[in-house]
This record gives sequence, C-alpha cells and structure tokens, in this order.
Amino acid sequence: MIPVVYWEPTKKTYPVERDRVLLQSLLQKGAPVEFECQFGHCRKCIVHLKEGFVRHEDSQGITEEEKKQGFILLCSAKPCSENLSLAPLKND
Ligand code: FES
Repeated sequence: MIPVVYWEPTKKTYPVERDRVLLQSLLQKGAPVEFECQFGHCRKCIVHLKEGFVRHEDSQGITEEEKKQGFILLCSAKPCSENLSLAPLKND
C-alpha cells in the first residue's frame, strides 16, 4: 500500500513515497506546505504528527523532546506507516 498523508488545514489527502522525505512528496503533489532550507535547520516545515509513524533523520532543527511530543520536520522524515495525519504549526 502507498502511504497517504491527511493534511489537516485543507482536509485533503496526498499519496506519498516511502523512500522520499515527506516534504518532497507533498510538494510534488501540490500540497501547500511551508519550507525554506530543506535540510533540517530552519524549522519552517515543522508539523505535528497526529497519526502514523515516520523515520526521522538527525536534524539540528528539532529536539529529541519535540520528537517525543509528536513533532516532525517534513524535510527530514520519511513515512513508515500507511496513514499519516499532519497539522502544521503556526509560524507567526
Ligand atoms: S525546510 Fe528547513 S527545517 Fe525543513
């Protein structure tokens, strides 16, 4: 099965690839995601993983405590469950 991301703000689902970071797949599918550096540093792509599991690369832009609380960086995480639900944080 192809993993599917439910993007909470638009209430749309997007199929994503297991071997690509979520940011790349979501951008390719036209999802309205925020990003900047694309290498785990700026935190623009931080989201709350409300459902599902990911493999997260080591990244300076997120702490282990944040990961335990369910936050991920889209540019540093690959899907490893079939259904994921994501909600962006407000970057005010
Ligand atoms: S785009 Fe900068 S941390 Fe993900």
